[in-house]
Amino acid sequence: MSEFRIHVKASSEYDVVIGEGLTGRAGSLVREAVPKAEKILLVSETNVAKLFLEQVRSDLLKAGFLVTEYIFQAGEQSKNINTVSEMWGAMARAGFTRTDAVVSLGGGVTTDMAGFAAATFLRGIKVVHIATSLLAQVDAAIGGKTGIDLPEGKNQVGSFHQPAMVIEDTDCLRTLPEEKFTEGLGEVLKYAFIMDRDLYDLLEGYENKSGLQSDIETLTKIVRASVEDKVEVITEDEFDTGRRQTLNFGHTIGHVIERDSDFTKDHGVCVAKGMGIIADACLANGLTDKDTHDRIIDLITSYGLPAGDEITSEAAVSGAMNDKKKRGNTISIILVNRIGEAEIVKMTPDGFLEFLKRRDIT
Ligand code: GLY
Repeated sequence: MSEFRIHVKASSEYDVVIGEGLTGRAGSLVREAVPKAEKILLVSETNVAKLFLEQVRSDLLKAGFLVTEYIFQAGEQSKNINTVSEMWGAMARAGFTRTDAVVSLGGGVTTDMAGFAAATFLRGIKVVHIATSLLAQVDAAIGGKTGIDLPEGKNQVGSFHQPAMVIEDTDCLRTLPEEKFTEGLGEVLKYAFIMDRDLYDLLEGYENKSGLQSDIETLTKIVRASVEDKVEVITEDEFDTGRRQTLNFGHTIGHVIERDSDFTKDHGVCVAKGMGIIADACLANGLTDKDTHDRIIDLITSYGLPAGDEITSEAAVSGAMNDKKKRGNTISIILVNRIGEAEIVKMTPDGFLEFLKRRDIT
């Protein structure tokens, strides 16, 4: 059984551990990450809990932790202050102190919310993420972004709170419903487009695209490359003032589409749509050549994701101006001019509208 560790040097240092069967070793890994903790709040959601909670809970108990469970209803609709408030209450009632810790077990909704509960309870306790979805393994669990949604927009409230460890069991990926696996690929493709030509070549040349979910060897390579990419970015720009913004390729419009669907459309699917729309606009504005544009669109669709949406340019811009990436009256839009290279461009609402609308006249 191979296991890889990728070390993160941010405001606090930690390992991302990737390998098969790691949920069965959760107790010793969590002990290594939070040696002083006595109590653990184990946070999961209804779907993931059915599959992995018992195994993780019993391994944590074996490692000597006192475990309190908190399970919420699966889905982005749960990502709100009420759910986090219940986590705070569970920790308060169990007498948690500042050396105790939260362990999240799940996808991006779980890691974001459990991370936020840990960041704020007693002004901050440690959190370990056991990331079970592809999206969480390649993106959400790494880099310390935590938070909740508001009716007005996604991830509008949150904080930076680096985890003490991220545990990524690649066996969990086999159990994902197909649509959840596919949406995670949206974030993987993003790394290929913005910074990783080798990953692009691997994904593009991979022959059994519809069978990727059961090819654990290739999947491990892809997860590892994505994690290394994200770690490189957050090591350079932990607090999202520079290069980290490139990780938002496709996200500004993606978030508008996601919010307009009342969060019923998966995040990674909306990101794929957003990347396709920006690629179309880059081509229409002469900012990218046709070959690069076609490569982006073809890779997105070849992995079963949509590379566009019916959203109008006006709706995209007005929704985007409510996005947290907005600074003053401008918004940073991420462009890909060549595969593996991203550019951050600041646009006013009018400039962004003109940029998008040019798609209609070419
Ligand atoms: N998901 C984008 C970031 O972590 O910055």
